Amino acid sequence: MKITMIGAGYVGLVSGVCFADFGHDVVCVDKDEGKVAALKKGQIPIFEPGLDHLVASNVAAGRLNFTDDLKTAVASSDVVFIAVGTPSRRGDGHADLSYVYAAAREIADNLQGFTVVVTKSTVPVGTGDEVERIIRETNPAADFAVVSNPEFLREGAAIEDFKRPDRIVIGLDGNHARARDVMTEVYRPLYLNQSPLVFTTRRTSELIKYAGNAFLAMKITFINEMADLCEKVGANVQDVARGIGLDGRIGSKFLHAGPGYGGSCFPKDTLALVKTAQDHDSPVRLVETTVAVNDNRKRAMGRKVIAAAGGEVRGAKIAILGLTFKPNTDDMRDSPAIAIVQALQDAGARVVGYDPEGMENARKVIEGMDYARDPYDAASEADAVVIVTEWNEFRALDFERLRTAMKTPLLVDLRNIYRKDEVAKHGFRYASVGRPD
Ligand code: UDX
Repeated sequence: MKITMIGAGYVGLVSGVCFADFGHDVVCVDKDEGKVAALKKGQIPIFEPGLDHLVASNVAAGRLNFTDDLKTAVASSDVVFIAVGTPSRRGDGHADLSYVYAAAREIADNLQGFTVVVTKSTVPVGTGDEVERIIRETNPAADFAVVSNPEFLREGAAIEDFKRPDRIVIGLDGNHARARDVMTEVYRPLYLNQSPLVFTTRRTSELIKYAGNAFLAMKITFINEMADLCEKVGANVQDVARGIGLDGRIGSKFLHAGPGYGGSCFPKDTLALVKTAQDHDSPVRLVETTVAVNDNRKRAMGRKVIAAAGGEVRGAKIAILGLTFKPNTDDMRDSPAIAIVQALQDAGARVVGYDPEGMENARKVIEGMDYARDPYDAASEADAVVIVTEWNEFRALDFERLRTAMKTPLLVDLRNIYRKDEVAKHGFRYASVGRPD
């Protein structure tokens, strides 16, 4: 299959390179000439494990190309994916679809022969209808089908998720047979591997993406509230998670209590679902509450650190280990670290941060924080070390070295990666989330 991927951002790049690795002929199109030039030289604009090697091998095999010339790419393609951004619109929280619609117009002008146009970007229900209307209006003679095919990639594990998905969701209306055949061919290696292909209508497919992310966000928020309750009643949230997670109807994943969810998807998608539901006079109150509870939680984690430090941090030095919203990414979008640092700074603390990959992006979104070379540099003369993101390199800290560097040996572990006894024996005071410390 000849595939054009419009948008060489996170989703477009990962999906494009994985399709190339399936043996398809893929062109990734991006308006950003600098990005295209860099990609051609093998420079990857994001940090994602394994992506650089996969790009290099598929470029070398001649199956993956990068261009800013949308016209030529679309004209020769069987399938065109739209994988542009759909950020939250300033002011109202709706998904901003201007990039999707602009792509639809450009695609329309250049379609030749039967082409399947696929929205991979996360888009509200009904966007596929609008994309179809735009293409038909712009080019009435075009022979095409518009399909919804949401992505379920986790940052840091995106290639694995793409190649071994729990399911592939494909939504199509009209033109059924031809578009269905094309999409089955696109995902042929996965289909042969028995990955379930869920065919449904376009609107249903669009909603599945939001419903899935909202459910996961709700699950995390539920266990976070249980963690707070555990602290009050002297119970252990990890055992609660295990105890309920072994029930197959609940499932053990996404039950890790922590500082609240962040990232490029959950915060944006939950908000967009709330707005869509309100517009249709069918409010999703559980999701509305999830959004509010998670927002509050991030600053509450700042207060938790202050409480652990004895209620006063004015003039204290606090070291933050882990700034990104999760490990194995350099993504700072809606990271809990942002609100935590802010809360500590507001309380008069001097905050020093360290992150294995995220410091460059952190500088763009956090003001007034100093940066360290490594965890021990961050801990130097500190009154507390706070683990905000569970990077592997924080899982085996040298506690003797850490304690010697610090002024006050206090460890606040917001990801529960340690146990009190193993930390306390090195002379630390220890606080974590939802466990009897
Ligand atoms: C998510 C979805 O998992 C993916 O399917 C979708 O396509 C995009 O959004 P991602 O944002 O990359 O992926 O990360 P994910 O691993 O899902 O974590 C999201 C946030 O939830 C992180 O801040 C993480 O720390 C937090 N989280 C996750 C928890 O706090 N506890 C958990 O048990 C799981």
